[in-house]
Amino acid sequence: MILLKKIYKAFGPKKVLRGVDLHVKTGESLVLIGGSGTGKSVTLKHIMGLLHPDRGVVQVAGRNVPDLSASELMNLRKRMGMLFQGAALFDSLSVWENVGFGLRHHTKMPDSGIREIASEKLRLVGMKGYEDKMPSDLSGGMKKRVGLARAIAMDPMVILYDEPTTGLDPIMGDVINKLIVLLKQELKVTSFTITHDMSSAYQIADQIALLYDGKIIEQGTPEQIHNTQNPIVRQFITGSEEGPFRVF
Ligand SMILES: Nc1ncnc2c1ncn2[C@@H]1O[C@H](COP(=O)(O)OP(=O)(O)O)[C@@H](O)[C@H]1O
Ligand SMILES: [Mg+2]
Repeated sequence: MILLKKIYKAFGPKKVLRGVDLHVKTGESLVLIGGSGTGKSVTLKHIMGLLHPDRGVVQVAGRNVPDLSASELMNLRKRMGMLFQGAALFDSLSVWENVGFGLRHHTKMPDSGIREIASEKLRLVGMKGYEDKMPSDLSGGMKKRVGLARAIAMDPMVILYDEPTTGLDPIMGDVINKLIVLLKQELKVTSFTITHDMSSAYQIADQIALLYDGKIIEQGTPEQIHNTQNPIVRQFITGSEEGPFRVF
């Protein structure tokens, strides 16, 4: 479903991605881990077509993302749900209007239909009954859940999560992790998650990949990663200060 081959991306003199190889099979959940500022969000933006690689191949569902026209890219994005870091709700829209935002802009569905779908998605994330609340009425964890309902509003084939548990307390983080697993099972979506939270990674991943120094230095099942002999990966997953891992 997602294939990155030898992706290079620099911003001016700053070489962020230096040959990233990554693949996510249909229906699988891949978690991309790595230190902060290593290029995880930059990688995700390539998948969404928000950034183009200097070199390399970016494919989603067999399409070459950088080659798509604006309208083709729009069509592809409609099929990709995105949970932004910090949820990024529209403060002036109610909860159901936030969830229905994409439907309102991309379909001719009447408001009553949009509201109905929004309610159904809110139910899936445990937020039924909050339709008419405003984002300012909600806690951080609730906002994340509404953001999640918005990400699945258009029945995406892929969901991209950027740091879904960052900034949440451990209990709410656990709720979000369980929801990610539930959505994968219920909706059979392919998911791509960025995190630096290893317990989250072990909970939600079929595959874990570690981005380090501009490359994926290892991709494997949680068990393979847990048992890795690679000292850099070991250091990262155990959170140790000692080892070869370079802190930038
Ligand atoms: N649009 C941009 N222009 C210039 N530099 C950028 C841009 N986007 C990201 N960067 C830089 O690329 C590096 C990786 O960023 P990012 O992918 O956001 O890191 P993270 O792994 O924490 O998500 C950072 O040094 C960041 O400053
Ligand atoms: Mg980031």
